[in-house]
Amino acid sequence: MAADLVLGIDSSTQSTKAVLVDASDGRVVAQQTAPHPPGTAVDPRAWLDAFDRATEGLLPRASAISIGGQQHGMVALDAAGEPVFDALLWNDTRSSGAAVDLIAELGGPEACAEAVGSVLVASFTATKLRWLRDHEPDAAGRTHEVLLPHDYVSRHVVGGGEAFTDRGDASGTGYFSTADDAWRPELAAAAIGHAVGLPRVVAPCGIAAKTPTGLAVGAGTGDNMAAALALDLGPGDVVVSIGTSGVASAVSATRIADGTGSVTGFADATGRFLPMATTMNAARILDLQCRLLGVDHDELGRLALAAPVGANGLTISPYYDGERTPNRPDATGTWVGLTSATSREDVARAAFEALLCSLADAVDLLTGMTGETATRILLVGGAAGNPAVHALAPAILGAPVTVPAPGEYVALGAARQAAWAWSGSTEPPSWAPPPAETYTAAPNPLVREAYAHLRDRTS
Ligand code: XUL
Repeated sequence: MAADLVLGIDSSTQSTKAVLVDASDGRVVAQQTAPHPPGTAVDPRAWLDAFDRATEGLLPRASAISIGGQQHGMVALDAAGEPVFDALLWNDTRSSGAAVDLIAELGGPEACAEAVGSVLVASFTATKLRWLRDHEPDAAGRTHEVLLPHDYVSRHVVGGGEAFTDRGDASGTGYFSTADDAWRPELAAAAIGHAVGLPRVVAPCGIAAKTPTGLAVGAGTGDNMAAALALDLGPGDVVVSIGTSGVASAVSATRIADGTGSVTGFADATGRFLPMATTMNAARILDLQCRLLGVDHDELGRLALAAPVGANGLTISPYYDGERTPNRPDATGTWVGLTSATSREDVARAAFEALLCSLADAVDLLTGMTGETATRILLVGGAAGNPAVHALAPAILGAPVTVPAPGEYVALGAARQAAWAWSGSTEPPSWAPPPAETYTAAPNPLVREAYAHLRDRTS
């Protein structure tokens, strides 16, 4: 019956995924997807087309909808609501210099973290606005309003009018105070050079608007916040997501403001906080090896499992397209330890080890900041299903890992938010946790030591 169904969307870097879910128990009834154009600078109107295709036939069946989306992207719009420039995405590093300038203007890293919850890196929207001001002054001058990717799609769903967002995604802009739970519009204005319109911030469980056909639209949120909502994170849980980005995150009752910049102090989608350490190079570390070896991820995993621990001395610093954790926007990758005996298996294994070492660094930074021991590490994202990840992750992360069944957790989290808004309750609906497998292995610190040695002598 239509009244029981809610639609959750993940407008991600690579595609739009739509899941139609039974609001009472979270069971997926239908799902569809549509691709996005590649690149780190994209015409945001392509996401609206992808949304229309991914939701075709599903929208009329739903009572409520929420949009989860890639964090941080800059959607700069003119007075008519049209993009003035391509949306610069979270993984576009052209604004790294602007990040340095804005941190200095805010009084240094500590003051920056105190003001907006995080030390800015090129991912943050504010830095992209500053880049636009400095490199595309005409486009900057025409900018009337700035939205995040999920806000832009949400307004499309409603058919126009006032834009809206949530505190989770807003906390990734660099002009939202996590202490006050409110915009700091003067920081957005300082970044781009003049005052701009910002979306209304809607409460986590609020109905933001209704479509002309009466569909209730939730606040939406950033993709990481949506995944945390889907997985119903509790104390001691750390989620490690291996997608285009690598993310270690945990829900926290207290606000984090890390002046070292290692951990971003985002807000979550429930009224709490979502401290996070994020890498820019994750699945693409495997993608490169797949391309070079002419194999897919499954075969890459099989090759990796046929090589010994440590890949016969081959170690990779995988910061191929610049990196954010550690903050090295101009970095490239480095391979060391190649010999004439290096095999395809070694090359495959080294990629998995580099990926997991980079994620282990992220987990250590996160737990070092929250002071919470990770009692459960949940692995999600496309590469989390690879048997080589199951075998290597517990040894490299030094703890058992739990892998929930493959699922569209961002879209499911958005669906749970929609169900929450639709229910009018003060708490999100209780849905059964997804089935999961737990993998264990003896810790192997040697791989991390080799990685750390290489990491610390490259830049
Ligand atoms: C988090 C981040 C990425 C994107 C990926 O800060 O930049 O995880 O949200 O879509």
